Amino acid sequence: MAKMSKIRDLKDVLIKVLSSRDITHGLARACRRLQKEIVLYENHVKGKDELAKLELKFQTRKVQIGGGSHVLAGYLNIDICPPADVVFDIREYIPLQDSTVDHIFSEHFLEHIDYPVSVKKFVSECYRVLKQGGELILGVPDGELILNKYVERDVDFYKKMISKWYSKRSCLGDFNTYIDLVNYHFRDQDDDDIYTPHLWTYDFEKMEFLLKSVGFKTVGLWNFDETIANPKREWASLYVIAKK
Ligand SMILES: C[S@@+](CC[C@H](N)C(=O)[O-])C[C@H]1O[C@@H](n2cnc3c(N)ncnc32)[C@H](O)[C@@H]1O
Repeated sequence: MAKMSKIRDLKDVLIKVLSSRDITHGLARACRRLQKEIVLYENHVKGKDELAKLELKFQTRKVQIGGGSHVLAGYLNIDICPPADVVFDIREYIPLQDSTVDHIFSEHFLEHIDYPVSVKKFVSECYRVLKQGGELILGVPDGELILNKYVERDVDFYKKMISKWYSKRSCLGDFNTYIDLVNYHFRDQDDDDIYTPHLWTYDFEKMEFLLKSVGFKTVGLWNFDETIANPKREWASLYVIAKK
């Protein structure tokens, strides 16, 4: 781990660079990205320190990863930001023992971590912590659907996409043609103060390949169940269930 005093120095440097008058747009973007990553790093370091105190909760057999504010009762909720039970950067590893978990649920998280390094590590970590016969449910924005609707020039679909996903955003003036919606789907939240961007997109073929490549025996479509999943994710998402 980097010394926290070094991280504080780096933060101070970034604040100074960002406030200088002649900073370029490109350098400012890169500095903001680094500032966001530093916040995640600080969360991770603090969360790791607190892990020992949470030992009892580790008896849980059900885990949610990247649930954000959609915290699930009866689950161990792991996320890089509060209010999770365990604040931890899942790009590192899953802080659980081998073959101890029955069920892992994760939606609208995978597209936020880098492919191939972190994504491949994440799915193999899921496989490692699941018991034999355990299941992993993964939900992502449906890349194939978006591309089909782009080819079809489906205006009703795109109007719905804007109203469901982007109506409260400041970027509405930048949606001018169909390809902008494809780009927002792929690069969503780039250079956003709060959210992390989408880094990769998925279809069933890719999910199946990814999951089987780390050992999962079967991969199929999962029927949306809002007793677990966030109801606002039902539209235009792809959910799969993989069994170890
Ligand atoms: C788009 S939100 C989805 C939240 C929730 N699953 C839902 O569908 O409403 C993505 C979540 O992934 C979490 N996340 C992103 N990168 C992470 C990482 N490296 N480790 C753990 N959680 C991460 C974010 O903090 C955020 O809560």
